[in-house]
Amino acid sequence: MKPDRGERERHCPVMVEEVLDYLACAPGQTVVDATVGSGGHAAAIMERINPGGWLIGVDRDPEAIERARERLARLGRVTLINENHARLEAILDRLAVDAVDGVLFDCGVSLEQLSSAERGFSFRLDSALDMRMSPQEETTAADLVNRLPEAELASILREYGGERRARSIARAIARARQQRPIRTTAELAAIITAAIPPRARPRRLHAATKSFMAIRIAVNDEIGSLRTALTAAIRRTRPGGRVVVLTYHSLEGGETKGAFRLASKGSLCPPFPSGEPVRVRILTKKVVKPSRREVRANPRARSATLRAVERL
Ligand SMILES: C[S@@+](CC[C@H](N)C(=O)[O-])C[C@H]1O[C@@H](n2cnc3c(N)ncnc32)[C@H](O)[C@@H]1O
Repeated sequence: MKPDRGERERHCPVMVEEVLDYLACAPGQTVVDATVGSGGHAAAIMERINPGGWLIGVDRDPEAIERARERLARLGRVTLINENHARLEAILDRLAVDAVDGVLFDCGVSLEQLSSAERGFSFRLDSALDMRMSPQEETTAADLVNRLPEAELASILREYGGERRARSIARAIARARQQRPIRTTAELAAIITAAIPPRARPRRLHAATKSFMAIRIAVNDEIGSLRTALTAAIRRTRPGGRVVVLTYHSLEGGETKGAFRLASKGSLCPPFPSGEPVRVRILTKKVVKPSRREVRANPRARSATLRAVERL
């Protein structure tokens, strides 16, 4: 396994030009980056909204907030909030902001999180089985794999990871934990790999890739948080403002597509006090994908999909 020597790779922001275009950033705007990460998109947004702009950056990972602070503090007015974006409405209330000009979501994990041995996201780096994006969350990946009933584990692996061998893997996990608790990423990766017959193992991916992703999504309730946050973002974007979402996984993409569709019919968010529905116009009838050039330069961009709406 590749050791983490503390020289983490830096996350390369995906589809930056497309994000800026769909956000329609202009000087003086207030924009929320709901997944500020290391501040790559946020720095580009700040360049466009200054002078006079205000960037509100949210991330549930305190280490990401520190990285973003280092990168963004000198660029202009920025407020960084270490919280789950599912609480976006409460965050904006605290800042006394009624409506913003744009909200960006860049879902999933960052390269810094994946390449940090201590965080336990990767089967390539042996460490405690953690996978929490925020240390304030109570449930770790170890809690989940050691405590969940086998059938529930199987459905997480199938639903969140698209893992066809979900039942065999869940059975192998249930058997292994009867001997002793599963504590590390290497132990879990070995159990998963052994549960898949060699001929059935994926050629290009590590055998544990899908299961690790599924467990990470479950530990962090990524789909539930996105669902709540999308409603909040649409409600708190001013008419004419934009909500832009980058997803890397069919479940996140489906959740976004569904929310945007409902919002385009005025049935996602509670109506205004006047009874008028909160509506959007879908700007991306077809999803937007990164250019071939970008994928060549940054292969991690290949699964990215951009969707955007304008508040009416
Ligand atoms: C793909 S990275 C974002 C990278 C960022 N756009 C950049 O250019 O550096 C995703 C970030 O979203 C954060 N995140 C994921 N789910 C979140 C949630 N529910 N609330 C707040 N932050 C979240 C992760 O901690 C991670 O830092």
